[in-house]
Amino acid sequence: MKIAIIYHSETGNTEKVADLIAQGTKKVEGTETKCMSINNVDAAFVEEAKVIFFGTPTYAGTYSWQMKKWLDTCKLKLAGKVGSVFATENFLGGGADNAELALLSELLVKGMFIYSVGSSEGNPYTHFGAVCIKDGTAEQKDRVEIFAERVAKNAVKLFKE
Ligand SMILES: Cc1cc2nc3c(=O)[nH]c(=O)nc-3n(C[C@H](O)[C@H](O)[C@H](O)COP(=O)(O)O)c2cc1C
Repeated sequence: MKIAIIYHSETGNTEKVADLIAQGTKKVEGTETKCMSINNVDAAFVEEAKVIFFGTPTYAGTYSWQMKKWLDTCKLKLAGKVGSVFATENFLGGGADNAELALLSELLVKGMFIYSVGSSEGNPYTHFGAVCIKDGTAEQKDRVEIFAERVAKNAVKLFKE
């Protein structure tokens, strides 16, 4: 099962978190993960992917305009795939939750099955997706990997059944 990670990053924080997402998904057998910037998307891989993680910095309390532009102009068929999100912000309360909700709403419009694991598997809870302040504290980094592993594990189950 192919898993794509598509991120926007100007100063490297979201890119580093994308790498952690990849590390988490790679713990799940039967998956092949590829991480890509919005500036260098492997269209063939994305078309075949069953799961796409989208990562964004928080800009003025929402997701970045660059990620929005990429999605608004995306010609790839995203419908029917699982969509999951992660975000970085500069400070606690900087709006990453809202960035994630706004990004998730765009994925809904694209016809994706959006998923966050949420509180269904106990601690650590990942309500809307993974969040890191800048490139994350040690605890936040652990949460990112656990989140990604859980999403991948449940997607493998979903697409097998
Ligand atoms: C235009 C702009 C707006 C931003 N707005 C916010 C914000 O509202 N809240 C916040 O916590 N951080 C804000 N930031 C900081 C970034 O979200 C944060 O540094 C992020 O980790 C950058 O990701 P990157 O290194 O992947 O580009 C903003 C940064 C820029 C450039």
